[in-house]
This record gives sequence, structure tokens and C-alpha cells, in this order.
Amino acid sequence: QIKGFLFDLDGVIANTSAYHSKAWHQLADELGVTWTEDLGNQLKGVGRMDSLNLILKYGHKENVYTEDEKVKYAEEKNENYLNLLNGLDKSEILPGMEDFIKDLSAHHYLISLASSSKNSPLVLEKLDLRKYFDEKVDPATLTHGKPDPEIYTRAAESLKLKPEECIGLEDASAGVTSINGSGAISVGIGDPTVLKDADINFNNTAEVTLANIEKAMDNKKV
Ligand code: BG6
Ligand code: MG
Repeated sequence: QIKGFLFDLDGVIANTSAYHSKAWHQLADELGVTWTEDLGNQLKGVGRMDSLNLILKYGHKENVYTEDEKVKYAEEKNENYLNLLNGLDKSEILPGMEDFIKDLSAHHYLISLASSSKNSPLVLEKLDLRKYFDEKVDPATLTHGKPDPEIYTRAAESLKLKPEECIGLEDASAGVTSINGSGAISVGIGDPTVLKDADINFNNTAEVTLANIEKAMDNKKV
């Protein structure tokens, strides 16, 4: 029986995944690494330093910079990202997501945040959605980021639930892998070829409703 929902933030609740991509693209250009859609998809959901390392690996530059230089580049990306967040408000909540979250709350499901982003408290605050979250995982306390299961295991734990009693929602391939590894049921939102490992797929957030999830669970018998 499902008792809890574990939410990714960027690309699931708000359109902020596009801002992360834009800021990484900007940094990749500066580092002379060619940006591709595939690289963009690989970065989705992945934490800050892991993302920078993926970009450098993609451009065969993994041994070019010192740790200090890498930290500086990661900070530069974050400053660019924060500039893109200027003026972020409720209008950038993805279609249907506020109603969906309210509906979960009204049905007494527990809700935890499983975002890799250290900026997630700020983003939730700007979207005025913080009040719906019973718990959240602080990504700074993780040993391993997505695709490792740790963040979803911890999110279930934060609600005092077993992962099997939870549904996780993700727009990123690394995130779906993380949910699946934890034992929770994975909902992939976006291109089903990219999110092919999800237990349940929706093309966009507008399709994500309790009724549609229940229907999909019946069909798949997950
Ligand atoms: C994830 C995003 O939610 O957070 C990634 O999907 C981002 O794109 C990651 O790199 C880390 O975010 P931050 O804000 O801590 O740099
Ligand atoms: Mg995401």
C-alpha cells in the first residue's frame, strides 16, 4: 500500500531543470566542451560536482584542472544558475503540479523532497510550496548522489516508511535509476525513451494525477 510520495524538484515541480541546463551549457562552452542533447540528459538530476566531472569526462578533459579550479568553475555555474532564478515565482510551477501536490496532501499521503540541489529550499520557497513537504533530504549529507539509491532510500526513511510504500517522481534518467535501486515505485515524467526504466511513464506533468497513477498501477500490477 502506497503511503508516501518522494519528489524530485528540478524538472518535476518547476521548470528549473532548463535553468540548470542553460548554466551548465554556458560553462561547457567556456571549457571548450561541445554541448549535446545527450550530455544534457546525462547531467539531469546529477549533483553539482558530479555534473562538472561528467562534463569534463565528456570533453576528455578529466585531468586538466585542479580540485580548486573545479570548485571555482562549479561556483561560477551556480552563480549563473542563481541569476537565472531571479524573479522565479509560482507561475513557473509545471502544469498540474500544484494541484497534484495539494491533492496528495488532502488525501493524507506523506511527502518528502529528494532533490540533489542545494538550492532546493530556495526554489521551494520562491514557488510557495514548502508547506506541503513533511520532510526533505539535505543533499549535502549524502555519500553518493543520483543515480545511487541513497537519496530515495533516505527520503522514504525521512517519512518513516519503507521504499516499497512510496512512489518517486523523476524527470531524469539518473533519478529513475536511483528510485529503482531504492525499491520505491518509479514514475518517469518526460521522454519515455530516455526514461525507459521507469515503472510508470507520463509524457508531461499535466498527466500526473492520483487517478492516472492508480490506473497505471492497476495496469502494470506493480
Ligand atoms: C538537480 C538538477 O536537481 O540538482 C541538476 O537536476 C543539478 O541539474 C543538481 O546539477 C545540483 O544542483 P545545485 O543547485 O546543488 O547545484
Ligand atoms: Mg529533475
